[in-house]
Amino acid sequence: MSNRVFVRTLHAAAYLALVAAQSGVVSARPQTAAAVSLTARNRAEALVARMTLDEKIALVHGLFPPMAAGKTRNELIPSAGHVDGIPRLGIPIVRETDASLGVANQVEQRKGDVATALPSGLATAATFDPEIARVGGAMIGSEARAKRFNVMLAGGVNLTRDPWNGRNFEYLGEDPLLAGEMAGAHIAGVQSNNIVSTVKHFALNAQETGRMVVDARIGEAALRMSDLLAFQIAIERGRPGSVMCAYNKVNGDWACENSLLLNDVLKRDWSYPGWVMSDWGGVHSTAKAANAGLDQQSGQELDKAIYFSGALKADVQAGKVSAGRLDDMVARYLTGLISAGVLDKPVPAKAQAIPYARHAVVAQRAAEAGIVLLKNSGGLLPLATSVRRIVLIGGHADVGVLSGGGSSQVRSVGGAPVEVPLTSGAAASFARVTYHASSPLRALRAALPRAIVTYVDGNNVAAAAQAARGADLAIVFATQWTTEAQDVANTSLPDGQDALIAAVAAAQPRTVAVLETGGPVLMPWIEAVPAVVQAWYPGQRGGEALANILTGRVNPSGRLPISFPASAAQMVRQTPVGLDRLTSLEAQAAANPANASQYQLPSFPVDYAEGADVGYRWYERTAQRPLFPFGHGLSYTQFTYRNLQVSGGSGLRVSFEVVNTGRLAGADVPQVYVAREGSKTPMRLAAFQRLTLKPGESRRITLTAEPRILADYDTGLPGWRIAGGRYRVAVARDAGDRSLTATAVVDAATMKP
Ligand code: BGC
Repeated sequence: MSNRVFVRTLHAAAYLALVAAQSGVVSARPQTAAAVSLTARNRAEALVARMTLDEKIALVHGLFPPMAAGKTRNELIPSAGHVDGIPRLGIPIVRETDASLGVANQVEQRKGDVATALPSGLATAATFDPEIARVGGAMIGSEARAKRFNVMLAGGVNLTRDPWNGRNFEYLGEDPLLAGEMAGAHIAGVQSNNIVSTVKHFALNAQETGRMVVDARIGEAALRMSDLLAFQIAIERGRPGSVMCAYNKVNGDWACENSLLLNDVLKRDWSYPGWVMSDWGGVHSTAKAANAGLDQQSGQELDKAIYFSGALKADVQAGKVSAGRLDDMVARYLTGLISAGVLDKPVPAKAQAIPYARHAVVAQRAAEAGIVLLKNSGGLLPLATSVRRIVLIGGHADVGVLSGGGSSQVRSVGGAPVEVPLTSGAAASFARVTYHASSPLRALRAALPRAIVTYVDGNNVAAAAQAARGADLAIVFATQWTTEAQDVANTSLPDGQDALIAAVAAAQPRTVAVLETGGPVLMPWIEAVPAVVQAWYPGQRGGEALANILTGRVNPSGRLPISFPASAAQMVRQTPVGLDRLTSLEAQAAANPANASQYQLPSFPVDYAEGADVGYRWYERTAQRPLFPFGHGLSYTQFTYRNLQVSGGSGLRVSFEVVNTGRLAGADVPQVYVAREGSKTPMRLAAFQRLTLKPGESRRITLTAEPRILADYDTGLPGWRIAGGRYRVAVARDAGDRSLTATAVVDAATMKP
């Protein structure tokens, strides 16, 4: 948000010792999710029954620490959020930190406090491995806990509808099954530390341009089959203690006061037991929001009013919000905290030491598994041992790797070798262009002691081309910085980097392009560059991970969680909706600072006319070939699929052998796409599995199609409906591959929403 002000000074108040844990009901047998939340809900209700009205109200609105000095007697850790507890009832202080890539510390509001930075969400999604997501979540959650945070605002799962969205890097791509599975595993990992993880931003926060005012429009069935399905699967798998509603409107109502989303979909249809917290600055009313399902106002200083304090008390007393609803708001908050273990296993009273060296390895493994080898003509990679003179060009590859900006920004171990403040724009107050201290140059020199590895910064194209000509091989590092609160204006690499890559490739036929980008970028030079590596934002050990991939110490295995367009014209929306208007208003405000507030962007609609046919489904529906399809990724070995067997009936099971036909061990991600025969809907990813095979090894795997992917959502039912009949199945290496197909007859069925 643009009005964020970060207070750098730490409040020196003494920290209240955490109250004794509530005695829990301990059962000898593992409990089901429903049983756990029922027990938690019973405990929560028993606590609510002992509270005064003021105590209840105190729990449903939280402070934004940088703007809340003096509002509590307790220590305010500079971070995203703080909610005081009720010591007499054993309800702890809740301290909230961002985000999915590590314990955030935007613009270094906690001076000197570092944390381990995972690669971007898209990099983790590219592993197609829920276990990697879980391990990453468990690692960052343990750091949050050690720093005394008991709620982590991790779990961003907004579906990528547009490659230019500034926050794509935080999320998990364009497919609801992949994104939901990966987010669920990540959340479960965070919560394994007895802290809460928050799935966000519910829902359709699909662009940053005008994010506080945009009205996302889409039909209910399409929404249930796309963005909401990602949330639904993430919640089922990860059971997050809380859900964060989004800034934007959905079909005319603000997401944080949207009864269809919060009451009907989340709480009624999905039986979600935890609490709905607002995004910071996302509340617009008191009674309407409370009655529509919002349970807690977060970071209240960022809203126009403190809606859930005195105003809520008055509305409860006036009967505009029922006493029962207020009790439910509080009970949900406590249910989320109790289920995660926040009451029974309180965070330590003092910050604990963190095993950063061990955690760095977790970040590096995730990067190594998520980096995608997009192109490798003539087997240019891995780097041959005969290559003696290598020049690295651009992207600050001498000192570090790029990260994405905004609330998720981690100040990583080792600090920021490059850090550039912004001078304008919506992100200026809380984002800086930040590099992690992980130098590809240093890592490559260490990996290739007999080679001469040099660096030129790429600012002078002619000098870069000359350096490339004088070497045996050139590696150009191209960067695209993206951030929360802004979209990129287009998907071209900025700052003349296309010309730089083209010039280097013209001078040196053995050129590798390494892309450190928030998401897909256009590659007008693709024909001239034999090898391309998609590194995303590779995190705190990105340089080491890249060196291992480039030298072949690690066999690349990442697969694209998002389609890469061949041209801007292929995309549903070529540029951010409303960006022209916003840019012109910002210019007027800058020219007229005394009246800047009158140049506000009014609410405007974005029609998601593609409906549920997001990403690769859009390409199939419009018969377009992207540059690189969803699911694509090369290896230094080869895999083949054979002996496909498909069985239908009450479900769809797909069994096949995966064979490593090459000479190296490697990991592959076979993907199962399905569509009903004769229907016009594009094929959808219904199952996937990552597996590692030795050279020559073959393994038969059996995957079950996610039933909701076979189904369509039927608002008349309401629920999911599988139309019985014959289904086409493709076992594929990417969303465009139809080389191994079969069919099976699936029974008609309906399922609850
Ligand atoms: C972001 C959220 C974040 C919150 C707290 C908001 O601006 O949209 O993702 O968790 O701030 O920092």
